[in-house]
Amino acid sequence: MPVSAPRLIPETHRELKKVESILDLIGDTPLLEIRKVTYGLSSAVRIFAKLEGFNPGGSVKDRPALKMIQEGIKSGKLTRGKTIIDSTSGNTGIALAMIGRALGYPVELVLPSNVSLERKRIIHALGAKVIYSDPMEGSDGAIRLCRKILQQSPERYFKPDQYFNPMNPLAHYETTGPEIYRQTHGQITHFVAGIGTGGTIMGTGRFLKGRNSKIRIIAVEPDDALHGLEGLKHMASSIVPGIYHEEEVDEKIPASTEDAYEMVYRLSQEEGVLVGQSSGAAMHVTLQIARKLRSGTLVTVFPDFGDKYLTTNLWVGWRNLRVPAGDLKFSI
Ligand SMILES: Cc1ncc(COP(=O)(O)O)c(C=O)c1O
Repeated sequence: MPVSAPRLIPETHRELKKVESILDLIGDTPLLEIRKVTYGLSSAVRIFAKLEGFNPGGSVKDRPALKMIQEGIKSGKLTRGKTIIDSTSGNTGIALAMIGRALGYPVELVLPSNVSLERKRIIHALGAKVIYSDPMEGSDGAIRLCRKILQQSPERYFKPDQYFNPMNPLAHYETTGPEIYRQTHGQITHFVAGIGTGGTIMGTGRFLKGRNSKIRIIAVEPDDALHGLEGLKHMASSIVPGIYHEEEVDEKIPASTEDAYEMVYRLSQEEGVLVGQSSGAAMHVTLQIARKLRSGTLVTVFPDFGDKYLTTNLWVGWRNLRVPAGDLKFSI
């Protein structure tokens, strides 16, 4: 479907941001209408994606990380001299490392050693200390190792504890939800999001249901315990996060790694939008729902962009390399 070229706004008419801290740039992310991958849908069905990669740490996790740190300082649990520690599959780690540097707190992160090379490097570059957990135990292994370190010297650390901290969904209740409602002029009918900690779906879902109880809240999870969807959790085989309440979700739809990867590829080729695996899963499920509708405004979340995953199976090794072999001679 041909899409008209965007109108360029003259420099003098554009509102340009000027901020005092990198943290002031968290939130207020754009909502992009997906118009090519959606070809063939009823003209009264529209799909939008919230581009969370525009946050300064590069992901949706900047929002809860900031809220948890602010609350830690406010409650007196995070004081000068303490180190911020958490277990994270990557994006929360990047967010905490960035926020720690901006506010002057040291950060230590426990993560499975098989998270993408780019994520490890970003965390190192932001000056955080990384402690690796067993890759075979996934994000649950990181949670367990982090608990052990904390038990050994609890007075040294502040743990935001994204899986159990109510500030995680609250960040989305206060920001992501209102932004989406405003950006769709209240027209949203379906909200679709992947579940990692569950913060995004719980907080955003609660806000939207509060505005209009008819808005359907749909969770996306990997279809199998062994999956390649970084950032997402297969609930049946995982430690269920304390903040995740499945009864608040209208529906939970599984996505396969293959379908998610295929959608990431389509989004990059057809829309020019390079995103991570969990965005592919969310978009695949959103499209699946949209195909059954005659009308609707569906909103999904693209939690991050794809540049952090260029050395993972998503691009290297999957279907015999999407990138020409000659271009991959750098060592990884
Ligand atoms: C890439 C990616 N996608 C999705 C999610 C899921 O978000 P939430 O933890 O809010 O459920 C995360 C969370 O870590 C993530 O890093």
